[in-house]
Amino acid sequence: LREHEEFTKVKNIATIELGRYEIETWYFSPFPPEYSDSLKLYFCEFCLNFMKRKEQLQRHMRKCDLKHPPGDEIYRSGTLSMFEVDGKKNKVYTQNLCYLAKLFLDHKTLYYDVDLFLFYILCECDDRGCHMVGYFSKEKHSEESYNLACILTLPPYQRKGYGKFLIAFSYELSKKEGKVGTPERPLSDLGLLSYRGYWTRVLLDILKKHKSNISIKELSDMTAIKADDILSTLQNLELIQYRKGQHAICADPKVLDRHLKAAGRGGLEVDVSKLIWTPYK
Ligand code: ACO
Ligand code: ZN
Repeated sequence: LREHEEFTKVKNIATIELGRYEIETWYFSPFPPEYSDSLKLYFCEFCLNFMKRKEQLQRHMRKCDLKHPPGDEIYRSGTLSMFEVDGKKNKVYTQNLCYLAKLFLDHKTLYYDVDLFLFYILCECDDRGCHMVGYFSKEKHSEESYNLACILTLPPYQRKGYGKFLIAFSYELSKKEGKVGTPERPLSDLGLLSYRGYWTRVLLDILKKHKSNISIKELSDMTAIKADDILSTLQNLELIQYRKGQHAICADPKVLDRHLKAAGRGGLEVDVSKLIWTPYK
């Protein structure tokens, strides 16, 4: 019932102010009733508290001493940082993040049970602080081998490679766990495009080196990408043949080169040597 209500409700909050940006929202988000009649909400870009009036935000900014997401900085390379925030330890922050994210996520039944999730916040840092550009959430324990629940790049930062960075990061965490992973379904159109782009680029780069002498299982072990996702990506690229009841990779060099040329930009690289992290216990 709750889900149905959310789908039939119309978009309420039309714009938000967050840091330097005023952002138009995309979808309905179930803010508490006292906020849901506002056309615009003002967010503190650091603690993600939201307010109905600009003066409230200005007053808040004078006393809010947070300059980065609450939690551990687990990655820094140049001006990019990743923070890991535990939903159980930072309930208010992560609930605020969910409200904010839902404004740009359509189909997701968002979990407000933040306790069960870790949140990975990507920031651009400068002398004023660490400014969130996007994030993904991840279940602490997933039965279905999901390594990512929700992913978002804030609209002013989209199409710059941050989405693929976040996706790459989620697979680096899976590699450290020694597990394969897959994103929670359903994927949005933009989510699918980004994943397809990432999977295509990673697999083509490996196939280019190994020609056809590699199996889907080996690809999966190397990349932490689930075998099903590898198969569907390679089928999509017409690099799979079905022989004697088995799927075989058939990576013709000419076909590979054609796909590599067409594949999008690599996105921002994750420098694994800068990741300091141990899996959640
Ligand atoms: N039009 C066409 N293609 C696009 C667009 C667009 N507007 N945006 C992204 N893409 C595709 C492109 O193929 C792009 O690669 P390219 O630039 O090399 O061609 C690829 O997606 C990834 O682009 P990035 O710049 O790395 O990704 P971005 O930072 O824009 O983030 C994301 C992608 C996270 C999906 C973003 O669009 C977003 O936050 N959307 C709203 C929320 C959402 O839909 N999240 C996914 C839900 S599914 C889930 O959470 C499991
Ligand atoms: Zn604040």
